Amino acid sequence: MRKIAVLLSAISMIAFSMAFTSYAQDMTPEEQAAAAVDQRKSLFKTIRYNLGPIAGMAQGAPFDAEVAERNARRIAVMATMIPEMLAVDTSNFDNIETTALDSIWDNQDDIAAKAQALIDNANAFADTAATGEMGATLGAFRAFGGSCGNCHDTYRVDND
Ligand code: HEC
Repeated sequence: MRKIAVLLSAISMIAFSMAFTSYAQDMTPEEQAAAAVDQRKSLFKTIRYNLGPIAGMAQGAPFDAEVAERNARRIAVMATMIPEMLAVDTSNFDNIETTALDSIWDNQDDIAAKAQALIDNANAFADTAATGEMGATLGAFRAFGGSCGNCHDTYRVDND
């Protein structure tokens, strides 16, 4: 039984990598752009998922230092992917739904700097949360949460 299971999982891994390779090769430029947009939105949604409980604490939900630190560290790691995710110029296709502004493609250094600011502020927040001090931690939230808006204000369609 065990051998069969190992064999089956090996077969499915091979099938997966074959499917994935032909998938990437067969895509039109528009499909590649759509996939890039999908990918970056997924990253941002997962970042937001992790920020949610922290934002809740800042608005009066019970303080949980462990969750605050853990989620901030996760965001710091995920934010290292932001410049990569915002490197593919997807502006040539009208059918793609995106709130990314075209100025992104000419300002990659600034994108990297804003992503780094988020990483630094998320880590500073996590370090404060690690002390278990609620007041200081929530005080550090302003800079952390502000790093999101600081990039959105410049590089995202204002849809509030
Ligand atoms: C360096 C720039 C930058 C930083 C920093 C940044 N974002 Fe964004 N974010 C963007 C851009 C650009 C988009 C638009 C993506 C698109 O529509 O293609 C976006 C989109 C989003 C979206 C919408 C995704 C969707 O499904 O349309 C969410 C949610 C989001 N960001 C959350 C956050 C949060 C939370 C933070 C901070 C913890 C953050 N972002 C930090 C640039 C940034």
